[in-house]
Amino acid sequence: MRVLIKRFDGKKFWFEEFDIEVNSDETILEVLDKIRNKKRDLAYRSFCRSSICGTCAIKVNDKTILACKTKAIDMAQNNEIIIEPVDRSRVLRDLVVDHSYIEKAYKDNELWFVDKIDFTKENIQTPQELKRYDKQTDCILCMACYFECEALDFDKNFAGPFVFTKYFRFVFDSRDKRDKQERIELAKKNGLYNCINCQKCIMVCPKQIASAFDIKTLQNNDKNPPFAVAGLDEMNFF
Ligand code: SF4
Ligand code: SF4
Ligand code: FES
Repeated sequence: MRVLIKRFDGKKFWFEEFDIEVNSDETILEVLDKIRNKKRDLAYRSFCRSSICGTCAIKVNDKTILACKTKAIDMAQNNEIIIEPVDRSRVLRDLVVDHSYIEKAYKDNELWFVDKIDFTKENIQTPQELKRYDKQTDCILCMACYFECEALDFDKNFAGPFVFTKYFRFVFDSRDKRDKQERIELAKKNGLYNCINCQKCIMVCPKQIASAFDIKTLQNNDKNPPFAVAGLDEMNFF
């Protein structure tokens, strides 16, 4: 397979070409590992190798994917793949980009529990309560949705898809004691209504999370309590 990799040494970008044998079950990450065995200065990120840590997002043939989850053969066009760093983030070296936006987004959007925990008893949650936001907790912060989101092409104040999935996760968690409308007001300040519904976030998410629907659900619950999730609303928890 012909593999073209966009490289960066801190000063300039260039493409480097490699010709390597690729087995039908090999992932893009395994292809990168093979290349790195010959080219020791090639930089890319990976830790878990099993779609959990979220660090290996890269762009292959113009689509953001997880390198450890995606087979090279599935991405190849005419037996060729073009590997580049993701968009919308500063490139540090080769395929390694700056991930500091995650920390900024958590701080700007106050994405943590507000809780007065009573340590003398269990913090009980029913299976139905968990079901409301369970899917959203699958997010591994790979930022694939953020790198592809079209709203961000025009609106730098839009927090990005995964951020609103995190909002959803807290708004619909029965253990979170923060006022739900207060969370939604903060989401509005960070662009809740600026999603243009291109649905790219749904298409690229390796965990099949639908951030566009999470955004829609938060909008539907704006000033419209009790807080409700379409399809799960036989239950009223708040
Ligand atoms: S649907 Fe909305 S949040 Fe998702 S990628 Fe498009 S603009 Fe971004
Ligand atoms: S919502 Fe999906 S694509 Fe976005 S950061 Fe989370 S896991 Fe990645
Ligand atoms: S290496 Fe952890 S998600 Fe790919």
